[in-house]
Amino acid sequence: KKENIKDMLDRPLRDLRISVIDRCNLRCQYCMPADKEYTFLPKDELLSFEEITRTAAVFAELGVKKIRLTGGEPLLRRDLPTLVHMLSQINGINDIALTTNGILLPKQAKALKEAGVKRVNISLDSINDSLFKLINGRGIGTKPVIDGIRAAKEAGFETKVNMVVKKGMNDDQIIPMAEFCLEEKVQLRYIEFMDVGTTNDWKMDKVITKKDIFKQLNERFDLEPLNPDYFGEVAKKYRYKGTDIMVGFITSVSESFCGSCTRARLSANGHVYTCLFSESGHDIKELLRSTSEDEPLRERIVSIWNHRRDRYSDERTEATAKQRKKIEMSYIGG
Ligand code: GTP
Ligand code: 5AD
Ligand code: SF4
Ligand code: SF4
Repeated sequence: KKENIKDMLDRPLRDLRISVIDRCNLRCQYCMPADKEYTFLPKDELLSFEEITRTAAVFAELGVKKIRLTGGEPLLRRDLPTLVHMLSQINGINDIALTTNGILLPKQAKALKEAGVKRVNISLDSINDSLFKLINGRGIGTKPVIDGIRAAKEAGFETKVNMVVKKGMNDDQIIPMAEFCLEEKVQLRYIEFMDVGTTNDWKMDKVITKKDIFKQLNERFDLEPLNPDYFGEVAKKYRYKGTDIMVGFITSVSESFCGSCTRARLSANGHVYTCLFSESGHDIKELLRSTSEDEPLRERIVSIWNHRRDRYSDERTEATAKQRKKIEMSYIGG
């Protein structure tokens, strides 16, 4: 029953990023600025675990091997380990990962590990406590996140730290964060600030590119470049010489990677997005709720992917960043 489908640009379907909830307990400046109002999805609009699993199983038949759970903040979704366990039973899924702000990990890491999560990416944009409180808009210090990182390591996850770098926000944290992650022996990934959504006031001159970050880092550390581990890997990686610790860059702005983008996204209310910067998605919730047969669902997803021609980051300009009505990061989960 397995079928490997391709889009208009000949890209296969390999990853499914599932947003399990659109709410978050933080209000990061670059994502959900605290001074803006958000309306959240009512509960009955969220896909149930059965609906998510059914959809993921169809995606797996069409080539998906990796699932990443996101939010909002995914750990706010009740009984998440139950969902993980259901997803882990799907034939063909060999990697289940999680992207989180880490705050709830000390409580949940063990159960998530037992349920089948293999890898965890945790967001931390500053190791300076007062600056982090400002960035996350909720006055949460670094300690809960650091505890989360340690809980993830202890539970046995492959753990990485994500740092969005924005000019004037946290550029002074580039070296301190590298030092912190080296000490913790976790991979840090510097992420170029992107124009996701419409509320984060993105401007090109707020982006600090990989080139700038690398220059600072290279002055301080001895780094050697590494080859990608698989086709379509998002981060460009280096190793600190003489160690097995890596550091990466996610260069959506300065060196886009649309050519190898094999990712589909499923929002918490059952819309399929073929790009992080899509203006709209494809509602499959109606279909899920109106028939218990998988064939119509399968046909729909094949058609969506076959028609896909997104390459937003390849085409990005200051004008598209301003004019395009994009979905919010907190809704689609990055
Ligand atoms: P790994 O499987 O661990 O490499 O995860 P990942 O880097 O794909 O996922 P994560 O959720 O940690 O995302 C890190 C950053 O990469 C976030 O800022 C994402 O928005 C960004 N990112 C992930 N996939 C894409 C993509 O397809 N397009 C763009 N433009 N950015 C992406
Ligand atoms: N640009 C780049 N990365 C972002 N993230 C959230 N908003 C943005 C943005 N505007 C990051 C989060 C998290 C990941 C899923 O995406 O910090 O690490
Ligand atoms: Fe911050 Fe992630 Fe929450 Fe957005 S979803 S506000 S990046 S913690
Ligand atoms: Fe994929 Fe869209 Fe990101 Fe390009 S911008 S890598 S097409 S999600």
